[in-house]
Amino acid sequence: MTLIDGKAIAQKTHAASRAAVAELKARGITPGLAVVLVGADPASQAYVRSKDKMCHDLGMHSVKHELPATTSQADLIAIVRLLNADPAIHGILVQSPPPSHIDERAVIDAIDPRKDVDGFHPLNVAKLTLGDPDGFVPCTPLGCQRLLIESGIETAGANIVVLGRSMIVGKPMALLLMAKGPGGDATVTVAHSRTRDLPAVCRTADILIAAIGRPEFVRADFVKDGAVVIDVGINRVDDFSLPKGYRLTGDVAFAEVAPKCRAITPVPGGVGPMTIAMLMASTIASARRFAALG
Ligand code: GUN
Repeated sequence: MTLIDGKAIAQKTHAASRAAVAELKARGITPGLAVVLVGADPASQAYVRSKDKMCHDLGMHSVKHELPATTSQADLIAIVRLLNADPAIHGILVQSPPPSHIDERAVIDAIDPRKDVDGFHPLNVAKLTLGDPDGFVPCTPLGCQRLLIESGIETAGANIVVLGRSMIVGKPMALLLMAKGPGGDATVTVAHSRTRDLPAVCRTADILIAAIGRPEFVRADFVKDGAVVIDVGINRVDDFSLPKGYRLTGDVAFAEVAPKCRAITPVPGGVGPMTIAMLMASTIASARRFAALG
């Protein structure tokens, strides 16, 4: 069994990003990312801070808006519009999910699709569906695909089961894997909580991508011997024996699944670091496009 080292693969991506930032800065362009968080969800706060820190590490411009949970939809959209108009900003990310009084779709629709580094705007969703390479692709599925490519795991002709159908991971993941080209050309099944005999469907997978958002949902009987398992889940589970009071666990019951696998990602240190690496890469790509550098 091989442990897929997401941290190491992310470092490789960051090295390329650092070089690209230096090259752009030499031309007077500093890639800029704005991250907006509404409310004080501790996990979201941690993500937002790590994105901010990574921007600084790579020499990028970073703006962070941490807004109270009571922020109105109109005020949030007003901030998005200011960021749309700000020439120092090339990427805008509004952390999902927002509080329930905010219509997430309306906020995403307000983001300039040329700055939508999350790839959530309908125009970018359409581009991914059409196979148009000019759009932005959601960072988590992009990171999963990069992990497979960098680990030398062939997707062409493989049976891949994507467990989960979210806008952030499952749906775009399926589209990426069925697209033509490296990291694609797979036979993709999208399974979810309503799928009949989920373990049996998952056992058909040469590569299983777990993105269902339930701690340790994928058990040994979901996995065929020799499969590759990519665990997208990052769940906080109470553990009062730890000083933090919680531990992080994936969507996969790692201890019982790992021995059956050809390769598997750990949590933490698997998909998580790749998501942020792809966000940085997409923001740099956006800055290049704004400067008409391709
Ligand atoms: N919440 C969890 N993952 C993501 C992501 O990739 N982008 C945004 N905006 N919110 C998220």
